[in-house]
Amino acid sequence: MTKAIDTINYTHVFGHRHLLGIAELSPHDIEYLLERADKAVSVSRQVEKKKMVLRGRTQINLFFEPSTRTQASFELAGKRLGADVMNMSVASSSVKKGETLVDTAITLNAMQPDLLVVRHHSAGAAELLAQKLVGCSVINAGDGAHEHPTQALLDALTIKRNKGRVARLTVAICGDVLHSRVARSNIILLNALGARVRLIAPSTLLPIGVERLGVEVFNSMEEGLKDCDVVMMLRVQRERMTGALIPSAREYFRFYGLDSERLKYAKEDAIVMHPGPMNRGVEISSEVADGPQSVIEEQVEMGVALRMAVIETLIETNDRLDNEKKHKEEQK
Ligand code: NCD
Repeated sequence: MTKAIDTINYTHVFGHRHLLGIAELSPHDIEYLLERADKAVSVSRQVEKKKMVLRGRTQINLFFEPSTRTQASFELAGKRLGADVMNMSVASSSVKKGETLVDTAITLNAMQPDLLVVRHHSAGAAELLAQKLVGCSVINAGDGAHEHPTQALLDALTIKRNKGRVARLTVAICGDVLHSRVARSNIILLNALGARVRLIAPSTLLPIGVERLGVEVFNSMEEGLKDCDVVMMLRVQRERMTGALIPSAREYFRFYGLDSERLKYAKEDAIVMHPGPMNRGVEISSEVADGPQSVIEEQVEMGVALRMAVIETLIETNDRLDNEKKHKEEQK
């Protein structure tokens, strides 16, 4: 298991041109991004919200799946850094998989962007673009049920700001783990920073071999929530379900929904999270979602700051690595 760290190593040099998944980051990379994001929060709270460090740079958001908050968050983050941001939303249903992704990427690459933010329904889509198709930095904004790294990072930032640390906290991730890239990225990140991770879900909504991910598995909310510091709810992703994995919304809520009675099983000061969009009355009651323990709105605010930090870091890193490469070639 990776050693947990509570403080940032200021001499840390971030070495990634792309952000494709949490799995490729070291604990120091993660802490570095969280520290930068924490500083970016104050920029968004100022009256004048712009920091023009990316003036003249172009960011393209390429979304093959519908998204409101993630796309808006990336757009605002880029704009607050002074970049020109273009949104391209491609309706996935009408196009053939793969072909469109590749063709669109080649076309957009010819427009010389500095950053491509991509969301796609296939696992590995962002990686394919980064490795084979485009010459700029790529951020994975969600690829199938694989990873959603900026969501896990903004969740960690929210946890740190509320609890002071991530290490040694008990975090329960509850609900539709099977279809959730948010759960996957969070499991990897929370383990890397030394938290204790629990999954609470019916067996039908758990991936095969889940025990190997370094988690404790519960089928009962009451048992799993006991002594938790953080309760992370997941959306029931009906659009990804092919068969009847849950009986009905009402039955689901009865056994796996988070209401105020059930929340009492967690620690008294536990925080409640949800990546959105929420199905109120299915996985979470309105009373809890809007209640005093909820940090769901704060997650949205942290999302912009975290994405500012990621965008700035990747573009800086890309510039640095390009310069180093050029320097080496000149010396040959
Ligand atoms: C998540 C996603 O798209 O994976 N949402 C998000 O990024 N705001 C979770 C979800 O769709 O349930």
